[in-house]
Amino acid sequence: MKPAVLVARAIQPEVVARLRNHFDVEDNPNDQVFSKDELIARLKGKQGIFATGSERIDEAVLSANPELRAVCNMAVGYNNIDVPACTARGVVCTNTPDVLTETTADFGFALMMATARRIAESEHFLRRGEWKKWSFDMFTGSDIHGATLGILGMGRIGQAIARRGAHGFGMRVIYHNRSRLDAAIEQECRASYVSKHELLQQADHLVIVVPYSPASHHAIGAVELAQMKRTATLTNIARGGVVDDAALAQALATGLIAAAGLDVFEGEPAVHPHLLTVPNVVLTPHIASATVSTRLAMADLAADNLIAALGFGPSAGKPPTPINPEVLRPAP
Ligand code: DGY
Repeated sequence: MKPAVLVARAIQPEVVARLRNHFDVEDNPNDQVFSKDELIARLKGKQGIFATGSERIDEAVLSANPELRAVCNMAVGYNNIDVPACTARGVVCTNTPDVLTETTADFGFALMMATARRIAESEHFLRRGEWKKWSFDMFTGSDIHGATLGILGMGRIGQAIARRGAHGFGMRVIYHNRSRLDAAIEQECRASYVSKHELLQQADHLVIVVPYSPASHHAIGAVELAQMKRTATLTNIARGGVVDDAALAQALATGLIAAAGLDVFEGEPAVHPHLLTVPNVVLTPHIASATVSTRLAMADLAADNLIAALGFGPSAGKPPTPINPEVLRPAP
């Protein structure tokens, strides 16, 4: 008998078909977002879950489903998974790093540019039929080329954004990270390490790429926004909750900073109502990794992880991108 797995959201049919070669698959072609109770019920008797950031896998889910052996996220972020709880139960967790780095960096850069050059705001103005004449100061924004790019969180995606800024747009790149990067990587990205305070004070365009954790909760709030230049922009492609959205909306409304670009939100898909009323913010629905080829690469990698984690395929027992590899080691 094949092991049973749940594919928690609608995904590419060819990936579901590949999973069916190994598993008895319950999929979700109607793309219903399951409540916690429904998720627990659907996981009954399942050994694996192909998850997305929408499914919270915590102690309640694990204890109700002791047969669960693998939680494979189709996302690089995994703040939806209680990894220590999984590790304690010997449940392997995986994510999808690398395959989305360049695509997500492209989007971060695009969102930063749209924010600085007021692209969404001016497009809405045009669509409303308000464009009647040229004006010297109509939708004047701030330059990207030659400006100071500040990056908070210098993992793979932060580095890819730094390269775009330094090599493509002649930007001065500064970053802050939990730990300083190797000199060779700094050199390749042409990026200088600064304190968080210096980052906030000096950046013309601040891009947030730090993973969400209790330690990064509201890493950018009222206090941090007050340290930024009034002409600065802020772009968040990391996770909702890293930025205090209420404080950001207030800062945008009062001109404490010039503009923001947000792809992620606290409590998404809900968006803080104040953000919806301020014009100087570009809002997108968590699509930084959303290209056809990258989303397929993410789904394929999550499937490879699930197949291997449950003991099938060429790398049986060795999922390519584990988050908690310690559960894979044989007991001493
Ligand atoms: C990720 O991979 O973590 C993205 O935010 C989801 O698209």
